[in-house]
Amino acid sequence: MKDGASTGTTRKVNVLVDPQSPLLFFDSGVGGLSVLAPTRAVLATAPIVYAADSAAFPYGRRTEEEIAARVPALLGRLVERYRPRLAVIACNTASTIALDHVRAALNIPVVGTVPAIKPAAEQSRSRVIGVLGTQATVRQPYVDDLAARFAADCTVIRHGSPELVELAEAKLAGRPVAIEAVRAAVQPMIDQPRGADIDVMVLACTHFPLLAAEMAEAFPGIAQVDGGPGIARRIAVLTEGQAWPREEVPAIAVFTDLAKAPPAASLKKFGLAELHGL
Ligand code: DGL
Repeated sequence: MKDGASTGTTRKVNVLVDPQSPLLFFDSGVGGLSVLAPTRAVLATAPIVYAADSAAFPYGRRTEEEIAARVPALLGRLVERYRPRLAVIACNTASTIALDHVRAALNIPVVGTVPAIKPAAEQSRSRVIGVLGTQATVRQPYVDDLAARFAADCTVIRHGSPELVELAEAKLAGRPVAIEAVRAAVQPMIDQPRGADIDVMVLACTHFPLLAAEMAEAFPGIAQVDGGPGIARRIAVLTEGQAWPREEVPAIAVFTDLAKAPPAASLKKFGLAELHGL
């Protein structure tokens, strides 16, 4: 684990790659856009396929069994259709539950998103950090393991917030998000014993960095850490030396339920010009 990117057994594949072969991003909804944006900042002309399992959204309310069965199967279909050079599971819930299954099913490098507990612990002065994710993510043994390895001298306070996931989707759909609603969604984390001492919170759900400005306004004294920039660096390392198109190509958005896709104008802001169903 480095800065929120799971390294696992993924190794650089030194083969000649078609410049048009895309990077495939996968999430339950629009959260993975918070990983796509920093990736674009380092790999400006990378062809992109952004896939959202909107038919099964939200993952945070699903069982481990449902996610472990669904995610590798969908990724398999997406890889067959779009032939990506690398896949990014831009979802903490899917990564903490299904990353190993996905890696076993695919023959391309797979980068996962895991809670950025390590950088948060490095940054915390109070030694009390918050981990804000989905209900499914915060109960994973993967999180216990990260806390034990990288934040053993910290109090790690977890909170699963389905409300915040919905607020992020609302924002991307162009609806206004009230600061009060963001504050109310996060407050149960602060209300836990020692919660008032949290000085760094891990945004352990890719939807939450989409609300970074609102969270900063609601909790000005708490620093936010997320895995997006670390994942972008990891993708750059794994694709180093590979050819890319000379200019940006229109990116593709894929939704398993097209009726739940955000408006085209919101997708365009992330360079997603084409919309496909799956
Ligand atoms: N964006 C996802 C994550 O990082 C999950 C949101 C959901 O579907 O509940 O965990």
